[in-house]
Formats: sequence, structure tokens, C-alpha cells
Amino acid sequence: MIGNQAQKLEKLVASNSPQEKNKSKKTRFIAITSGKGGVGKSTISSNLAYVLAQSGLNVGIFDADIGLANLDVMFNVKIKKNILHVLKGEATVSDILIPITRNLILIPGESGDEILQYSDITLFERFMKQAQVLDKLDVMIIDTGAGIGKHIQRFLNAADDVIVVTVPDPAAITDAYAAIKTIANLRAEVSIIMNQVKNEKEAQAIFSKIQAVAQKNIGLGLKLNLLGKVNFDLKVTSSIKKRSLFCVTHPDSTPHKDIITIANKIFAKLERNMLVKANESGLSGLVNRMMEHF
Ligand SMILES: Nc1ncnc2c1ncn2[C@@H]1O[C@H](COP(=O)(O)OP(=O)(O)OP(=O)(O)O)[C@@H](O)[C@H]1O
Ligand SMILES: [Mg+2]
Repeated sequence: MIGNQAQKLEKLVASNSPQEKNKSKKTRFIAITSGKGGVGKSTISSNLAYVLAQSGLNVGIFDADIGLANLDVMFNVKIKKNILHVLKGEATVSDILIPITRNLILIPGESGDEILQYSDITLFERFMKQAQVLDKLDVMIIDTGAGIGKHIQRFLNAADDVIVVTVPDPAAITDAYAAIKTIANLRAEVSIIMNQVKNEKEAQAIFSKIQAVAQKNIGLGLKLNLLGKVNFDLKVTSSIKKRSLFCVTHPDSTPHKDIITIANKIFAKLERNMLVKANESGLSGLVNRMMEHF
């Protein structure tokens, strides 16, 4: 039987209309991507998922870095079966889910080559056909690979939010801009997380540059938004080496505070959406819908 969520997602994938997208689901899908590789997508995805789960939300994190999946390493868990087994019909989605902590599950990806032959057969839809088990999730974070390939575009198209991660080095900024340009063909709003910065000021300065280039070349049709920054910190590097999350090992660090700030923004967005859904009709519904525009 196809899950409720799967039906909604199929509609979602089929539809290009933003109104239709907002109406038909409850799990918020957040895709995290980048132009250049190695800029911190998996680091941010895993720590953000953890912080969101700690705040009481039901969170899933999907390792969709096709062929290079490594979130099992980030979370220090052993996986037996992964998304490839689901695609081959050898396991169900529930078989492969790995509980990480309270409220947080990992949907493991495949780190070998074999999965690449499945990337053109609508991986997303196939996976979601069995995804009723994911109905209970409030948020699903999708850690995609770097560079915007065909299969990644499918995720970026269906997600509620797309976050591009970049770092201050010029090559990464150029690649981030190229990614944003591609995403602008798919959607009207893109968020940016500036990783490995010295401070807020540096993040703002780089963001302003990207925004200026985007406005000049892509136009005002694209809304860019600086979702947040994460400071460069050797505690992040050392946590990864020890296969632990810096939000767990270094709760007093600036990067942890940075992730909390980002999580709060996501949380607020979710709450606004729930408010509107809970009171869709009547005067209060109207007031709530109007409030959404402020
Ligand atoms: N804020 C930070 N401070 C210090 N080091 C960082 C920070 N963020 C990431 N790193 C370093 O960058 C490395 C790459 O990070 P990560 O694996 O998350 O990138 P990625 O974008 O997921 O890479 P890939 O494109 O290969 O999937 C990490 O191993 C870590 O050492
Ligand atoms: Mg990664």
C-alpha cells in the first residue's frame, strides 16, 4: 500500500506550483547542497538534524550523496542495508532506518558505484513510494552531493527549502554561485549557510557579494536569504575525526551556537506553517494566513 506521505510526495514531485506544494504535506523537506565538494554539508546536516531533534521535533536525515554517502561515519553507526537495497527491492524503507538519538533517524545512502545505475530511474519517487513510515517526521534533512547533477535536481525541486552551503574561498564562492544559478531555474528562493567563516561580518560581506552578482545576472526573480553562518573552529575538525558531533562534544562552542541560531529559524518557519494548517478556516484562519506575510 502506498503511504499517505508517498501519495502527497508524488503529487508534490508532479506539481510545479508552489501553492500546491504548500497545501499537500506536513513533513518539511530541507535539501542541503553545494557547488564545490567538501564545504561542510554533511557536518552541518548532521549537527543541524541533531539540534532540531533535541528541540523535540521528529527528524529524519537522508544521506542522498549518491555514491559518496558518509553520514554513517559522521554519526558513528554501522549500517547493513541502505537505500540501494530498497531500490533493488531487497529491503523496505523501515528495514534500513537507523535510530541515532531520541527523535532522530538516519536513512543511509550507498557509498559504492552500483547505485549510480539507479540514479536515472527516479530514485526519489521509488523511495518515497514506501515512505509511509516517514509520515511522522516533522523535518527531513536531505544531504545531497556537491554539484547539481540530474538526480540532485529532483530533490531540489521537491524540497520545501534548499540550502546552499559555501565557504569563503573564491573557488567555493564561484561554484556556489553556479549552483544557485542552476537552482534558480527550479525555484524562487534559495537559502545560504556560510561555513568556516571568522565571524558574522565576514558571512554578511560574502553573502552581499553573491547577492549582488545574482541580482545582476539572474534578476530579482530569485530571493536569496542568508540563513546563517558557522564559524571555522578546530573543534569541528577534531569532532569529525573522532566520529562525534561537535554539538554533542562541544556544546559551548561558537559553531554549536551558530547551529542553534539556524535551527531556531527553521523551527519558527515550521511553527508558522503549523499555525496556518491548524486553523485553515474561519476568521482566525484568515488572520493566521495574513500573519504569515509578516
Ligand atoms: N565549521 C568548520 N570548522 C572547521 N572545519 C570544518 C568546518 N566545517 C567543515 N569542516 C571540515 O571540512 C571537512 C569536510 O566537511 P564535510 O564532509 O561536512 O563536507 P561535505 O560538503 O559534506 O563534503 P562532500 O562534498 O565530500 O560530501 C570536515 O572533515 C571538516 O574537517
Ligand atoms: Mg558530505
